[in-house]
Amino acid sequence: MSDLARRGAEIFTRTAKDSVAMQGFFSVAISGGSTPRRMHKMLVKHPYLAGIPWEKTHVFWADERMVPFSHPDSNYGTAKRDFLEKTPIPPAQIHPMPAWSSPETAATLYQKELERFFQLEKDKVPIFDLIFLGIGIDGHTASLFPGAKISDDRGPWLASVKGGNPNVNRLTMTYPIINQSRHVIFLVSGKEKAEVVKAIFEDKKAGLPAQRVQPKNGELSWLLDREAASLLP
Ligand code: 6PG
Repeated sequence: MSDLARRGAEIFTRTAKDSVAMQGFFSVAISGGSTPRRMHKMLVKHPYLAGIPWEKTHVFWADERMVPFSHPDSNYGTAKRDFLEKTPIPPAQIHPMPAWSSPETAATLYQKELERFFQLEKDKVPIFDLIFLGIGIDGHTASLFPGAKISDDRGPWLASVKGGNPNVNRLTMTYPIINQSRHVIFLVSGKEKAEVVKAIFEDKKAGLPAQRVQPKNGELSWLLDREAASLLP
């Protein structure tokens, strides 16, 4: 698992440096859950803490549970404790999803935040430099759960949903924005994910949410530990 975290931290660092060199800033969206935590904690250790251009880095979320930031289920609260508060990233460059708002207004508020940051022309979709995703054993990713009526490439960038574990109201990025990213990385660990990883790679008819992550012009990478990859040939 620590090798997985290290590989994720290395890609995070390299992409941050390349993005800043290319465009003057780095935009990354992170996920919640337990898998990314070891990587997040590694980002504030040597050599990553000094290697990442934090002063030019902007952190967003792929999804969030609509609970107070102090709640243990808060993706923002967990990431803040795990790494953000230990970095020199300017607070204004941390863009939490509006967990304080109602499900009806959360998507509108975050869409405005994205429009403001990316300074988009009309009808343009934000292009993140990097998005980290996890997968659940049901094949969900972010908070895009099986059966969700979400279009692949058109429609809103964000959706308010209820479900998952914990089964709460959530705000999630949707495929139109995820699939615009320059690089999407699935970070997956543990034996309990081996079955769903096999289904995602081998059963093209499974129709799992994670299978609909197909970056249009970007890279898609899978960082799997041995257990999660154990049923692959
Ligand atoms: C969330 C996550 C979710 C997560 C998967 C995997 O907010 O719940 O974004 O999509 O990535 O459920 O979670 P684990 O890493 O805890 O297995």
